[in-house]
Amino acid sequence: MPIFSATATANPNIAFIKYWGNSNTALRLPANGSISMNLAALETRTRVTFDSSIPKDMFDLNGKRQSGAALERVVAHINLIRGLRGISTPVHVLSENNFPTGAGIASSAAAFAALTLAAVGALGLELPESNLSRLARRGSGSACRSIPTGFTEWRRGDSDLDSFAISIAPPEHWNLVDCIAVVEEKEKKVGSTEGHSLAASSPYQATRVADTPRRLDICRNTIQKRDFQALAQIVELDSNMMHAVMMTSRPALFFWEPATLNIIKSVQSWRKTGIPAAYTVDAGANIHVLCPAENAEDVKRRLSSLPGVLDVLSSQAGGPARLV
Ligand code: DP6
Repeated sequence: MPIFSATATANPNIAFIKYWGNSNTALRLPANGSISMNLAALETRTRVTFDSSIPKDMFDLNGKRQSGAALERVVAHINLIRGLRGISTPVHVLSENNFPTGAGIASSAAAFAALTLAAVGALGLELPESNLSRLARRGSGSACRSIPTGFTEWRRGDSDLDSFAISIAPPEHWNLVDCIAVVEEKEKKVGSTEGHSLAASSPYQATRVADTPRRLDICRNTIQKRDFQALAQIVELDSNMMHAVMMTSRPALFFWEPATLNIIKSVQSWRKTGIPAAYTVDAGANIHVLCPAENAEDVKRRLSSLPGVLDVLSSQAGGPARLV
């Protein structure tokens, strides 16, 4: 029996304007649009092999055979792609991250972007970028932003057909660096998927969502103009707004650790002394500090010396998901 195989790589991304909450959970249609930057230094490499001689679907992550929820989520995504060809051939998915596992760095974006591209490639389907982004979105919302290159915007859309990400600037447009201060290495207790479903229980979510087109416009413009001070303002506001929603959900979600808040305050005080740096926090305690490339060494050194910082990773803007 024939064997079909393809390998793809994808970067995770850091959201400047966050995706939080779905209008349709099954289709992962987001409550609001979002903007992010791909992270070149972090990469997931995934090989997908459809092989009728293997007994069942298998998924290996960083050399470890996966079962339970992790396997089910990958198989559900593969089923979607198998459906495009009307096949049921078993699959072997082999995935490796080049960044430390358990560093608490969200990897579902890179994972589902690479998985989508490799699976589609293995089946010999040639799809436009928008369709790849739509498919990746079904696996993990933020994964749709890791398909196009550089700085990307996920247009919310109203249906499966028009909810996907496009590139708004190539990586070389702006030499920004994301310095990631790792303050927690363990897996987070509440995953994003569960968090999205709680968003609507916060009285602030509707206000946050209604204001998003304004923040998206500002963010897009600051990227176009490479205006770091304005970017810092909108990125921090957006992160604070999402965490305000999280903290006021039922049940309340508090992702920050004391070290997270200490870094937030440090970044604010550095900026007052003229150091261009801006923080943003996802659904975890680790904190991303954005700065122009020329300030990255200084910012990394400062972050490393703060209490509770276990490691500092850094990355410039990255390219699209690609077949290798
Ligand atoms: C806080 O894309 O990880 O990082 O679709 O359930 O996999 P699922 O959620 P996910 O959510 C990302 C949430 C966020 C903000 C963002 O990246 O926009």
